[in-house]
Amino acid sequence: MSGNQSEILEEHYARGDAVAGVKNALAEIGKAEGALKPEELSSIDQFHVRSLLATKDLAAAAEPQLDMEILDIGSGLGGAARYLASAFGCRVTGIDLMQSYCDAATMLTERCGLDQRISFRQGDALALPFPDARFDQVWTQHVSMNIADKAKLYGEMRRVLRPNGKLAIYDPVRSGNEPLRYPVPWARDERTSFVPTESELKQYLQDAGFTVLSWEDKTKVALQWFEEMEKKWAGTKPSPLGIHVLIGPDIRPMSANLRTNLREGRAKLIQAVCKAI
Ligand SMILES: C[S@@+](CC[C@H](N)C(=O)[O-])C[C@H]1O[C@@H](n2cnc3c(N)ncnc32)[C@H](O)[C@@H]1O
Repeated sequence: MSGNQSEILEEHYARGDAVAGVKNALAEIGKAEGALKPEELSSIDQFHVRSLLATKDLAAAAEPQLDMEILDIGSGLGGAARYLASAFGCRVTGIDLMQSYCDAATMLTERCGLDQRISFRQGDALALPFPDARFDQVWTQHVSMNIADKAKLYGEMRRVLRPNGKLAIYDPVRSGNEPLRYPVPWARDERTSFVPTESELKQYLQDAGFTVLSWEDKTKVALQWFEEMEKKWAGTKPSPLGIHVLIGPDIRPMSANLRTNLREGRAKLIQAVCKAI
């Protein structure tokens, strides 16, 4: 990834000290100390549309098994890693470009008592610091849109995956002829947003050595979820433990734009499971 792009991403995602921000938010909800349950954190550690529901759906499709070695690329605050470890007994490695997210993810994982099964390290999805065929599954949610070099991205995923291992994806794609409205939760403008069409994504996966096992359009359920959330939270104060701690208050117009992009057919959400051939 170019230096300029990582600087813009750093400015977008790592506006402050994520560890301090998360600790302050936990203190505000009376959880400054003591053990945490993974599901208590979903308002901040599931940084994608449909939150924990989407993670559960992706896991149901990818069928992770006890003791499987899983790599979560762009692991954010580690919500998916903790779900895979606590619900299925997987061993998860998370990698993310933001050092501060890795630090916050490690802190939260320790407080959930899952640090024997999960670790996080800072790194770039385009240069994974792992040997070939190291993982049983590779997992990624709402990350590829930040990465221009798709051939390298999916090539790296294929390289670290054992033959017949599964790749689990949950990502936006572009649709229709109208451009995306910005800002969106992953980018303030097009400088760090590289959203392929559905057919381009399929081609990238095929070129990298994957075959598709399942492919689901999650746009409709995502729009229903936005509507339910709007009704549920109408007139209430947002939880202190929210994505705004990481991104700032602009997360609201960003999420609104993403919803509009989905509603207007400018984008879709795809859940896919592929096999390394
Ligand atoms: C929208 S967040 C999603 C986080 C997490 N996957 C989740 O769903 O909760 C996108 C994440 O991708 C990470 N990211 C972006 N580009 C990356 C790259 N080249 N390598 C590793 N991580 C990257 C960002 O730092 C950020 O944590």
